[in-house]
Amino acid sequence: ALERTLSIIKPDAVARNVIGEIYSRFEKAGLKIIAAKMKHLSRKEAEGFYAIHRERPFFNALVEFMSSGPVMIQVLEGENAVARNRELMGATNPKEAAPGTIRADFAETIDANAVHGSDSLENAAIEIAYFFSTTELCPR
Ligand code: CMP
Repeated sequence: ALERTLSIIKPDAVARNVIGEIYSRFEKAGLKIIAAKMKHLSRKEAEGFYAIHRERPFFNALVEFMSSGPVMIQVLEGENAVARNRELMGATNPKEAAPGTIRADFAETIDANAVHGSDSLENAAIEIAYFFSTTELCPR
C-alpha cells in the first residue's frame, strides 16, 4: 500500500556531509521526499519526539545526542514506505547492519547511527504530525 514514514538524518550524518548520499538511496528505492526541514532540536523537542523511550537506560544519551547538532527531517512516501525505509537503514546497531545499508555505510555506534525511521505505520503518523502540519506535505 502507499504509505508515509518519518525519516531523520541524525547529527552524526549531517556532520559527515552525507545528506545527499542518503537522499539518493531513498529516491533510488522509489521513496519520494514529500516534506523536509533542517532543524537543531532543543532538548525538549528531542525528549518529546522520543517520549516512547523515556524509561529506557539510553534515553538521556539519546536526547543529548539528538540535540547536539542539526538534523534533517523528511517525510518519505511510497509503496510500503515504512518497511522499505527500514530495509534501507539496516539494523539499529551499525555493527549488525547488513552490508550496503545506510547504517553499515555511514555509522559506527548504536547511539550515533546516522538515521531514524518510523517502526510502524501507526508511529509514522504520530511522528510526521510531531514535525509537520498537513499543509507542509507535498504529495505528487
Ligand atoms: P532510533 O531508531 O532513532 O530510536 C531510538 C534510538 O536509541 C536508536 O535509534 C538508537 O540510536 C538509540 N539506542 C541506543 N541504545 C539503544 C538500544 N540498546 N536499543 C535501541 N536503541 C538504542
